[in-house]
Amino acid sequence: VEQQGAVELRERPEATASGSGLLAGKRILVTGVLTDRSLAYHAAVRMQELGAEVILTGFGRAKRLTERSTNTMPRRAEVLELDVQSDEHFERLASDLDERWGGVDGALHSVAFAPPELFKQEFLEADLESVETAARISAYSLQPMARALLPLMQRNEGGGSIAALTVEQRVRSHPYAWMGVVKNLLNAVARQLAVELAPHGVRVNLMASGPVRTNAGSVIPEFDEMERTYERAPLGWDVRNHAAIAGAACFLMSDLSEGMTGDVLHVDGGMHILI
Ligand SMILES: NC(=O)c1ccc[n+]([C@@H]2O[C@H](COP(=O)([O-])OP(=O)(O)OC[C@H]3O[C@@H](n4cnc5c(N)ncnc54)[C@H](O)[C@@H]3O)[C@@H](O)[C@H]2O)c1
Repeated sequence: VEQQGAVELRERPEATASGSGLLAGKRILVTGVLTDRSLAYHAAVRMQELGAEVILTGFGRAKRLTERSTNTMPRRAEVLELDVQSDEHFERLASDLDERWGGVDGALHSVAFAPPELFKQEFLEADLESVETAARISAYSLQPMARALLPLMQRNEGGGSIAALTVEQRVRSHPYAWMGVVKNLLNAVARQLAVELAPHGVRVNLMASGPVRTNAGSVIPEFDEMERTYERAPLGWDVRNHAAIAGAACFLMSDLSEGMTGDVLHVDGGMHILI
């Protein structure tokens, strides 16, 4: 894991104490916080500022980094263990959340991984094992996450909201090739889950983010070229704005998005219009 310097937070309003704010009373699980450059970190910060109670997940040796990043959040958050490849972790996560909160209102899926070989090999040469690993961690994992959280969300009068991070599905880039396919799988899993979970009052939506220089982002080959492409976005696009998706994530966790499921919010400066 590449260690990077602290990212300066943009000026924000004072953290709203739990009890007031758009997300007051919401209990939200946030996966995928590695450092303060993670997209999920900024989403979690904003959620706390808007009154939510937040629990993070971290995994393996990197859990230490997740714990460290909670020091700079408005309020320290508990970090529970979750490797999305482990059924046992999902079971323990559900029972820990049950014990802590007795229910869950929202969850952010912000997890992706691809073995480095997948970016090095030609599309036609990629080995099944690498593709399977990328697909299991980055796409399939939304299903066990939803399965673990469903009983905890079903208990709430307002149901629950699950949101996941993806890329614009029409982007076909040579270096991103298999990850593009995997993200399309994630999109399909999310849409099917939206159908499956709707009768239980649980909504499932996606956010398609433009490129941001995070740990996961910086392993993408030809990132610089992508950065130049996104400069053409109607609103412009800053690959160093790690907080870009935070507002959309809060909206999807809030009751303001109660009528939405199976949708994709584009947070890309409007670039998807031009693609
Ligand atoms: N950065 C971008 O340019 C960009 C653009 C669009 C979408 N996204 C998506 O946003 C999400 C978050 O990525 P990020 O850019 O913040 O990078 P990041 O590296 O900060 O986050 C990726 C997270 O995935 C976690 N992870 C990897 N394998 C895991 C496993 N087996 N179990 C549990 N967690 C695991 C890592 O610990 C890390 O916290 C990803 O889904 C990514 O594809 C990123």
